[in-house]
Amino acid sequence: MYTSPPPPTSTFRQPAAISASAKPTINILSRNQTWVAGSRSRLRTRIRRVSDSGSTMIRAVVSKEESKSSRAAAESRNGAVNGGMIDLKAMITIKKKTKEKMEDTWESFMIGIGHGILIQLISQDIDPETKSGIFAQSSARGWLPRASTHPHVMEFTSNLTVPANFGQPGAILVTNLLRKEFYLVDIVVHGFNQGPVIFHANTWIHSQHANPDSRIIFKNQAYLPSQTPPGLKDLRREDLQSVRGNGKGERKPHDRVYDYAPYNDLGNPDKSQELARPVIGVPARPYPRRCRTGRPKTKSDPESETRIEKPHPVYVPRDETFEEIKQDTFSAGRLKALLHNLIPSIVATLSASDISFGCFSDIDKLYNDGFFLKDAQHKNFFLKLMNQVTTVSQRLLKYDIPAIIKRDRFAWLRDDEFARQALAGVNPMNIELLKELPILSKLDASIYGPEESAITKEVIAEELNGMSVEEAIREKRLFIIDYHDTLLPFIERMNALPGREAYASRTVLFYNRAMVLRPIVIELSLPPTPSSASNKRVFRPGHDATAHWVWNLAKAHVCSNDAGIHQLVNHWLRTHACMEPCIIATHRQLSCLHPVFKLLHPHMRYTLEINALARQSLINGGGIIEASFSPGKFSMELSSAAYKNSWRFDLEALPADLIHRGMAVEDPTMPHGVKLVIEDYPYAADGLLIWSAIKELVESFVGHYYSEPDSIASDIELQTWWSEVRNKGHHDKRNESWWPELDTKEDLSGVLTTIIWIASGQHAAINFGQYPFGGYVPNRPTLMRKLIAEEDEPEYDQFLMNPQFTFLSSLPTQLQATKVMAVQDTLSTHSADEEYLGQVHHFQNQWLHDGEVSKFFERFGARLEEIETVINSRNKDARLKNRTGAGIPPYELLLPTSGPGVTGRGVPNSISI
Ligand SMILES: [Fe+2]
Repeated sequence: MYTSPPPPTSTFRQPAAISASAKPTINILSRNQTWVAGSRSRLRTRIRRVSDSGSTMIRAVVSKEESKSSRAAAESRNGAVNGGMIDLKAMITIKKKTKEKMEDTWESFMIGIGHGILIQLISQDIDPETKSGIFAQSSARGWLPRASTHPHVMEFTSNLTVPANFGQPGAILVTNLLRKEFYLVDIVVHGFNQGPVIFHANTWIHSQHANPDSRIIFKNQAYLPSQTPPGLKDLRREDLQSVRGNGKGERKPHDRVYDYAPYNDLGNPDKSQELARPVIGVPARPYPRRCRTGRPKTKSDPESETRIEKPHPVYVPRDETFEEIKQDTFSAGRLKALLHNLIPSIVATLSASDISFGCFSDIDKLYNDGFFLKDAQHKNFFLKLMNQVTTVSQRLLKYDIPAIIKRDRFAWLRDDEFARQALAGVNPMNIELLKELPILSKLDASIYGPEESAITKEVIAEELNGMSVEEAIREKRLFIIDYHDTLLPFIERMNALPGREAYASRTVLFYNRAMVLRPIVIELSLPPTPSSASNKRVFRPGHDATAHWVWNLAKAHVCSNDAGIHQLVNHWLRTHACMEPCIIATHRQLSCLHPVFKLLHPHMRYTLEINALARQSLINGGGIIEASFSPGKFSMELSSAAYKNSWRFDLEALPADLIHRGMAVEDPTMPHGVKLVIEDYPYAADGLLIWSAIKELVESFVGHYYSEPDSIASDIELQTWWSEVRNKGHHDKRNESWWPELDTKEDLSGVLTTIIWIASGQHAAINFGQYPFGGYVPNRPTLMRKLIAEEDEPEYDQFLMNPQFTFLSSLPTQLQATKVMAVQDTLSTHSADEEYLGQVHHFQNQWLHDGEVSKFFERFGARLEEIETVINSRNKDARLKNRTGAGIPPYELLLPTSGPGVTGRGVPNSISI
């Protein structure tokens, strides 16, 4: 008698004969296991119920007697052969779940688990006679818990028996018959001649009650699609199908479905029209795609999705969530606590009397004295979660002194420090070579005024200490930080917001013969008005008291432009948002057996979760970013405009970006193929070391797996993956001509090096300096509240009487500043278990299961150690004035390793904060 065939919709559905209700039948020969031959899709039909002395049992079914020769061959491969059968022992390791009441649930779990897990060992080979797959299965009933030295794991063992012709094990199907999910660490099968076979899982196994499909756990071996062993081909395809889902319905917490959606959940129009936000990720407002959640649409706007508000989590595929046991130590867990608890306490404390800093010592008090918080809930969490926001009691909030004022209290005021931060600060990505004059805008002159900048050749000439403008351009000594075209289209709307007064800035810098860079002229622009066709003001370094203060105000406006572009464009868009569709495509189109999936896996850790959290509380309508940065409610539209106008995948490669900005020239004689125009450009100089190390690893890796001439073009998973990154992940930019093709090893190496660089070095360089540079608000104000008064305006007299007051009252308020400082501090924090670039993860080698590839990673690790030494020695080189000198902090943002906390150094593998 055969069991009922399964529903045709799911090839993973557990057969009725071995479902929870049928468990009594799974007890053959008193061993709890059986083995079967047959294609996996025929699994459920190959299990035969046989009546034996009145009891029902399952007996293994073999299609035919094996030939003597094949048995002999199998016996020579595998030991412990017992009458044509091989005895195996499987060890399953499960991580405990901690948030439940351990006393109540653990015991029932312990009892239940012995009945609750079914595993099926799948051969990677097929039966030579039936041409179908071979597998053995065992319910976990009666599995024995083993004593474990690890406090958070449980281990169980069980016996399995397989036929001598079983061949090489390739995968395990896991079915969770319990009502609760569990975290499967791994399964190790002992008894094969080649030694233990490890199935690394590190995945949540959903309950069969939530989803009847079994999970497929593959052996640690990389295969290109064409190399997939015959017994695993169906499984490989089916596992990918399950990850892709059907694109319908609302995602449930236990799902592991990766799909795409536009940014249509930033606003909350049902709550208030004030919180309505346009959809980002449509032709008019292009953007990379986010992970689809499928929530219902809002009542007010059929294009917008309803929001999930804190503390309820936004869906991300189950394995993208933080490990529960360590959640409090994870960066994003800390960020969650900050947003849910600390920020509301700061707001409650300061909002009633939200005022400007009255004097500079008011700012210092944040570090020296701190302030008492009202309504501080969860009193211990400050101590637990804020590494650098230190407390002397449970309610006193005191900030750590940021690096920018640690060594030199007044460095931020100097022009050379302003310029140094363009090369070695938290935003070193916007400075570019000024190649020609006049400086021209690309905006529509009929709307935004004359295209020519007010920074003319004559203005520049006055600041060159006798050098001609032509000479300065020829010698590549003029540079520009140009935010004019990005910001001007938004200025009118931004300045209509309460408490916002911003300009669109341009800053020209001069690199003199003493090799010191400094700003020489700033242009601050407002949109034209009916009375004035051009509203461009030019500022130059001051040589008297008034000019000096006006120059400081102009620099503060530039810094607030810089802070906004850094956060919304370089940080959020170019690293966080652009990695997201890449991660989605990788999961959807590359099997976890694919070597490229294995290569990218460490670089995708926790990015979807941190991005979901950011959409919930940071970049959403009314969130921290809108409240704290000049563009306010137009922040994401600004980010979209930057994506539309300037983002190009090919220019995200560091050398290409440097060349594009004129900061480097191609030079095949140089180690990295480029020569820096300013040699002492710490971000670029150290970044190229990291870039080259990644490139070397990737090229070795690609060369190893793609040795055949057409192997890249014929890799169907890889081609579909790249097509999906372009066409679905970056749908709004799918037709751009600059997308690299993926035909050759060079193409693939370039694409992968760029992706890994964005996730590691690029993000580290612009993320972990946020508090060290931004933690002192005068150095990087995130918004400005006043324009610079002109001589005929009444505020000008007030400025003359008290310039310090004018300066401080132009900066963010105390509430705005302290909120941003708390967020920057958390975003700059490394968690205790951060995984850094070049540190071979403890199971990465095992995953790759290939000695040669392991050597590539070992070499990569050694290269990163060398880089750390090189950077440390550069930071002691007195010739490099952007790293050394009186009060100058070393450039450490691209030092590969770090301890936990706000260290201003360390390159994690992935964007996890
Ligand atoms: Fe970040």
